[in-house]
Amino acid sequence: MLAGIKRMQEVLGIQDVDIQNKNVMIRVDFNVPLDKDFNIMEDTRMRESIPTINYCIDNGARSVVLVGHLGRPEPKFDGDKQSQFSFNHLVKRLERLLNKEVFFAHSLQMAKQLQSAHANPVILIENLRFYKGEKENDPEFAKQLADLCEVYVNDAFGTSHRKHASTYGIATHVPTKVAGFLLKKEINSFAKALANPLRPVLLVVGGSKVSSKLKLLHNILDRVDKIIIGGAMSNTFLKALDYNMQASLVEEDLIEEALHILDKAKQKGVHVYLPVDVVSTTHLEHTDQVQITPAQDIPLNHMAVDIGPATSKLFSLVIQNSQTIIWNGPLGVYEVPLFSRGSFQIAHSISNTYAFSLIGGGDTIDVLTRAGYKDSVSFISTGGGASLELLEGKILVAFDVLDRKP
Ligand code: ADP
Ligand code: 3PG
Ligand code: MG
Repeated sequence: MLAGIKRMQEVLGIQDVDIQNKNVMIRVDFNVPLDKDFNIMEDTRMRESIPTINYCIDNGARSVVLVGHLGRPEPKFDGDKQSQFSFNHLVKRLERLLNKEVFFAHSLQMAKQLQSAHANPVILIENLRFYKGEKENDPEFAKQLADLCEVYVNDAFGTSHRKHASTYGIATHVPTKVAGFLLKKEINSFAKALANPLRPVLLVVGGSKVSSKLKLLHNILDRVDKIIIGGAMSNTFLKALDYNMQASLVEEDLIEEALHILDKAKQKGVHVYLPVDVVSTTHLEHTDQVQITPAQDIPLNHMAVDIGPATSKLFSLVIQNSQTIIWNGPLGVYEVPLFSRGSFQIAHSISNTYAFSLIGGGDTIDVLTRAGYKDSVSFISTGGGASLELLEGKILVAFDVLDRKP
């Protein structure tokens, strides 16, 4: 794994190239959690890219074009804008963080016009996932993006495991492509953290991106001693063990895979901890329907939305007995205060150990911040799925296309 990380550390950084009078595009990960009124709940991912953006402004870039994604819109046609995922929710905060005017471009064409109409503008282009070509890594779309810059900077660590047009395909068409400060900082921190981890190593995994994260557990089993599984992720595992999960979010297609993971863990002597009790409800808004039951006894039509109190105690014991702890994914629907208790308890337990603690993921950072423990852990990564892929021993694809020292 360390050889792969070393390779990723070798990519050129923004300070290694000349950006004076160049149009610079920065791929950022501004995929931050929003509330129902589209207020930003936690802006670490935005703040962490500010040094790279400011560096480009201060070093005479002709223009600074920011591109990224928000959420997982499913465009029905190219350019299909779903307002809840629009980057216009981020413009004001970005202006405040940069203390500078930011031009919002509704399209790539508009970005081009803004580049010629203004002196040294900072331009934020609308959510690239409104275009089908982004996730499909379409070469034509990648070329259109590339036409907006001479220097491409990747600062989107949280998206560096995705082979998309703005993280991968674009690099073929741009002469200079380098890493931003955040990308460098993250990979250097992981290199340090994973060089000689103190054992036992515990992975706490939860959240809702089950389909992209469950499969990663296979390889991670080679590197950890214990795994705590919570959140929607645990529903699929409990279902695999024949529990009746009622209306819970379960990935039926991954039940076989979950069984394989449990088998492999057994062979390798990795301890797996699943919820023994759960908080469940019929609707997220109907608080009068909330029940706490053993995981085997979820009431009819209820969905598991948090770990129960017994599970919190059990998981806390496991946490206390670990020396290195990696956490990605909330243990429940923490956005609803009534279902945030399990995630908060785990944040509390992790921050109270003397273990080395590495916490990653947009929503997981939000949990940590809300619980008031952001300053009590060893290292916060902006990457959720990306940090898990790194832990799996993979070279993150976005690093592969950046320039390296000759
Ligand atoms: P991160 O952003 O930290 O990588 P994810 O995006 O994978 O984490 O998951 C965060 C989401 O998981 C939250 O929106 C939360 O509501 C959801 N979640 C957690 N537990 C459950 C559950 N039991 N059922 C449904 N959703 C859940
Ligand atoms: C994340 O939130 O982990 C990153 O922004 C990547 O998002 P994705 O899983 O939708 O590609
Ligand atoms: Mg998330």
